[in-house]
Amino acid sequence: MSDPASARSSRPTIRRMESSDLPTVLETDTLCLPRPWGEVGWREELRSPFNLLLVLEEGDALVGHIAVQLVGDELHITTLAVRPEHRRRGYARILVESAITGSPDARFAYLEVRPSNAAARGLYGALGFAEVGRRRRYYGDEDALLMARDLRG
Ligand SMILES: CC(C)(COP(=O)(O)OP(=O)(O)OC[C@H]1O[C@@H](n2cnc3c(N)ncnc32)[C@H](O)[C@@H]1OP(=O)(O)O)[C@@H](O)C(=O)NCCC(=O)NCCS
Repeated sequence: MSDPASARSSRPTIRRMESSDLPTVLETDTLCLPRPWGEVGWREELRSPFNLLLVLEEGDALVGHIAVQLVGDELHITTLAVRPEHRRRGYARILVESAITGSPDARFAYLEVRPSNAAARGLYGALGFAEVGRRRRYYGDEDALLMARDLRG
């Protein structure tokens, strides 16, 4: 029988990213993304007043993160990653919805995604994002699909 105390301790929690999280964030990015930002990029993101950076913890382990930029009423999801062994537990969904909830001025959300990234396209489709355009050669080696969600109402 599972121990209720350990079940409680592994419940996911969301909090703002801190600079002390960067070693784990960088490691997660290396596991998850073809072109991680690197430490200099993350430190710039942490400094920007327009950004909301969140991490998801399971117990003591930091297993995912999201970065969004808010300009006017537009929220741009700039990166998102969940460590491979923690996927399909709804954590990316929690990260995206927490970033949206944490940006009450946002009326529209958008992001770019690789056409070949079936997991991310599945996620964003499940979260109500629709394809609204394509950015040619956005990633250099691949186009980006532009996906958007109307947050009003
Ligand atoms: C994309 C990613 C963030 C999804 O993380 P996750 O925590 O596994 O996603 P969730 O468990 O919250 O999934 C929520 C829903 O998204 C969809 N989804 C998630 N992964 C999927 C997959 N591999 N295939 C199809 N749909 C998927 C499903 O509808 C899922 O709901 P369900 O599990 O009830 O079917 C993760 O796969 C990842 O880190 N990938 C590498 C980095 C990346 O691609 N980042 C996004 C760049 S735009």
